[in-house]
Amino acid sequence: MSVIRKIGIANEKGGVGKTTAAINVAACLEEAGYSVLAIDLDLQRNFTDAMLQDRVSEITKTIINVAAGECEVGEACYPIYIKFSSKVRPKRVHIDMIPAPENEDVKFFSDPLALRKAFESISDKYDYVIMDFPPERPYAEVGENGKESKFSLSSLALNACDEIITPCTTDTDSLKGFSILSKHVSIIKQLYNPTLEKMSFYISSYAGYSAEKEFLDYCETMPSYSGICIPSSGIVKGSKMIDRPLAWYNTNSKVAQAFKQLAEYIR
Ligand SMILES: Nc1ncnc2c1ncn2[C@@H]1O[C@H](COP(=O)(O)OP(=O)(O)OP(=O)(O)O)[C@@H](O)[C@H]1O
Ligand SMILES: [Mg+2]
Repeated sequence: MSVIRKIGIANEKGGVGKTTAAINVAACLEEAGYSVLAIDLDLQRNFTDAMLQDRVSEITKTIINVAAGECEVGEACYPIYIKFSSKVRPKRVHIDMIPAPENEDVKFFSDPLALRKAFESISDKYDYVIMDFPPERPYAEVGENGKESKFSLSSLALNACDEIITPCTTDTDSLKGFSILSKHVSIIKQLYNPTLEKMSFYISSYAGYSAEKEFLDYCETMPSYSGICIPSSGIVKGSKMIDRPLAWYNTNSKVAQAFKQLAEYIR
């Protein structure tokens, strides 16, 4: 039985805070003493750039090579270093990353379980896998024989997740993204991934205007609302500017504490 816990951060709606959550949840888990494998599924490559920074030129293998069976998982894992202050050298943390490729054409795969099987080989090496999904609907095509035959990278990743957490901004569009994904996940659960336990959403950037308060009241009536509400804060931008996640920057701020709470929620 697998001991690793694989978390997908997904919403087909763009710009809702998926990558921000992936960076900060991975860092909070590391800070709490866990080893983390961070995976970028998005060809925009924002998660990769944030974690590998000026070492992106070292990348030779990506998640695409793993999904296509062209390399072992370990061959595509890159160690992560964090610069804890401007005066000291970056320090190795217990996070490895499988990057996304840059400027690559979208690829499809024939084996829907390719990533699920690949991750079995690392189940004793990490405590958590954190996957940053792209802003797109996980795609699977049905062939003439009635069987699905063409799968996108995010579809393969959904088949490998134990849990999905969805960031939503305070608008009905991002809640709609959650609702569409939930329906897709219930099909995936039946067909390919019976171990996908839980799917829930949180509010990812809350400023507290009166209309937003009403929106939050509405969310609180929904069983799939996690109860986590991340405040909107300029500290998020500051943390990105200095390439230091909130687990190690402005740690007492409300926004850093909220990401810690999110990491505790998925633990
Ligand atoms: N709590 C927050 N407070 C302030 N800004 C935030 C917060 N969360 C995210 N942002 C900002 O919102 C923008 C979008 O965030 P992010 O890139 O994480 O979204 P995404 O869902 O990954 O986008 P995409 O769909 O393009 O991959 C970024 O500029 C990010 O810094
Ligand atoms: Mg993103």
